[in-house]
Amino acid sequence: MAKLGVNVDHVATLRQARGGSEPDPVTAAAMAELAGADGITVHLREDRRHIQDRDVMLLRRTVQTHLNLEMAATDDMVAIAMKVVPDYVTLVPEKRQELTTEGGLDVVKHAQKLDRQIELLHQAGITVSLFVDPDLAQLKACARVKADYIEIHTGTYCNAKEKARHAELAKIEEAVKAGRRLGLGVNAGHGLNYQNLRPILALSGIEEYNIGHSIIARAVLVGLDRAVREMAALVHGS
Ligand code: PXP
Repeated sequence: MAKLGVNVDHVATLRQARGGSEPDPVTAAAMAELAGADGITVHLREDRRHIQDRDVMLLRRTVQTHLNLEMAATDDMVAIAMKVVPDYVTLVPEKRQELTTEGGLDVVKHAQKLDRQIELLHQAGITVSLFVDPDLAQLKACARVKADYIEIHTGTYCNAKEKARHAELAKIEEAVKAGRRLGLGVNAGHGLNYQNLRPILALSGIEEYNIGHSIIARAVLVGLDRAVREMAALVHGS
């Protein structure tokens, strides 16, 4: 059965908007697990715009499923991962100005550095995944640097207009097959929502789907009715 990894970064984004303590992504992670999540993902960005070091440390102690730490492939972040020892590290490209992760890691270009970082993470007992575009040269490079998993970047498929979407889906299908042929575990994520996930689910060979924004966006709306009712009851004294 496929697994669902829930990314709780956006809960932290809401908290950081006021700089307080609510809503707490650690609480959100526990709720996601109670609701059936198979794993929890957080992206500790270099600028700490949402998830904080404190969140990662607490999640390491409280997550009951598996903790997937997404991070830039820098030596500073690798040092943090070696201290936290999450179950998985997913290495992603990171640019300071971007709104979210844009595109996959260039494993071909950075093979030497990644090879060394993956070896260190493996020595700490951490399973390593690389976030990559559905591109054969990149997948081959992932196998060469001894990654355990790839996470196929589904963002281009998700953003594609109707006509181009079929071709993007075909690229993902080929990448899943190629990844497995290369002996890599295959995950997928970025931009997946309640509509565009269906065709991806129909492909076989993907172990885990990492989904964040669409779940948290829906939670705001499906939870709003109850939240307003509770506040109205308080204000109206009923
Ligand atoms: N996978 C990776 C590598 C990501 O960087 C992100 C976004 O943080 C996700 C999955 C989740 O994407 P989304 O929030 O669009 O579901």
